[in-house]
Amino acid sequence: MIDELKKEIEGARRSFGHELESIQSPEQLAALKERYLSRKKGVVSQFLARLKGCLPAEKPLAGQAINQFKEFVEAALSAAGAAGFAAAASGAWDDPSLPASELPVGRFHLIADIQGRIEDIFLQLGYEIAAGPEVERDEYNFTKLNFPEHHPARDEQDTFFLEGHDDLLLRTHTSPMQVRYMLGHRPPLKIISPGKAFRKDDPDSTHSPCFHQVEGLLVDRGIHFSHLKGTLEAFCRSFYGPDIVLRFRPGYFPFTEPSAEVDISCFLCAGRKTDCRVCKGTGWLEILGSGMVHPQVLRNCGIDPEEYSGFAFGMGIERVAMVKYGVPDLRLLYENDLRLLGQFG
Ligand code: PHE
Repeated sequence: MIDELKKEIEGARRSFGHELESIQSPEQLAALKERYLSRKKGVVSQFLARLKGCLPAEKPLAGQAINQFKEFVEAALSAAGAAGFAAAASGAWDDPSLPASELPVGRFHLIADIQGRIEDIFLQLGYEIAAGPEVERDEYNFTKLNFPEHHPARDEQDTFFLEGHDDLLLRTHTSPMQVRYMLGHRPPLKIISPGKAFRKDDPDSTHSPCFHQVEGLLVDRGIHFSHLKGTLEAFCRSFYGPDIVLRFRPGYFPFTEPSAEVDISCFLCAGRKTDCRVCKGTGWLEILGSGMVHPQVLRNCGIDPEEYSGFAFGMGIERVAMVKYGVPDLRLLYENDLRLLGQFG
C-alpha cells in the first residue's frame, strides 16, 4: 500500500512540475493551486483521505510522504508567485525599490566546505585534482598497494565486498587512486584525490561506515622525506594557522616506507592547557597518515623505483571537522540538522 502511494505521489510531483512549467498567467497559477491544494478535492486532500486505508504501522510514513509533497507544492507555488504572478494577480503596484523579501540562502555542507578549502591549498601548490570510483577493484585497493594476503583490512568484517563479484569492493580508503593515477600517467605526478571511503564500522562518535578522505601523491626524480615534511607543513600552516608545529611519529602502512603519522600542535592551546577541550591536554592532534611511496608499489604501477621516488598522504575530512570546528560527534554531520550545518560554510 505504502509503496503504491509513494509511487503515485512521485507521479503527482512530476505532473505538478510539468504543469507549473507551462503556467502563463496568474489565473492559471491560481487554478493550479486549487487543483492541488483545495481542501475538498485537491490532489493533496485525496492522498490524505487514503491514510484511512493504511495499516497503522504504515500511517506515519505515509503521512510524512504526503506532507512532504504538500510542502513541496506550497513552496513551488509561492516561489512561482514571488517570481511575478502574485503582484499581477492582486493588481498590486510593484515597487522595485522595496527591499527584497529574504530568501534562505543555501551553503556548502561542512564536509564539502572543508574539502574545497583543502583543494584550494593544494591547487595553489600546483597539484591537480583526480577523482576516482567508489566501487573499486580489490587489486587497486589492496594488492597493488602491497597489502599482504592476510592483512586484517581484507577481512569481510572490515570491508564491504560486492555480492557475486569477488574482485569488487567499496574502497576502504582513497589510496587506490594512487595506483590508478600511476598506471595511467608518467611522472612527474602531483595529485590530490578527495572522495568517499567505506569501512564496515559500527557508527559511533568517531566512526561511520561511509566517510571522506583526501589523498595526496607526488612522484618525481629525487623526491625525499623532507619534501613530504615541507609540503605537509605548508599545508597545515595554511589550513590550521601560521604557528602550527608538526610532529612526525613512526607509523605503518603497507604502501609507504617509511611511514609516518602526523600530529599538529594544538591550535587552540598550543599545549599550554591541561584541560584543553580540543587536544585534551596532550598538546597534539593526530591528523593524517603519510610516507614515502613503497618501491614495490611504484614497481606494481610500472614506475622504476631506481629512477623515481615519491610521497603520499591521506587525511580524513570528518576528522578535520571534529578537530578544527569542534564537532563532537561525526554522526551530527550526516543528520542534516540545519541548526548545526547552518553554522558553517
Ligand atoms: N590510506 C591510509 C588510511 O586510510 C592513509 C594513508 C594515505 C597513509 C597515504 C599513507 C599514505 O589510513
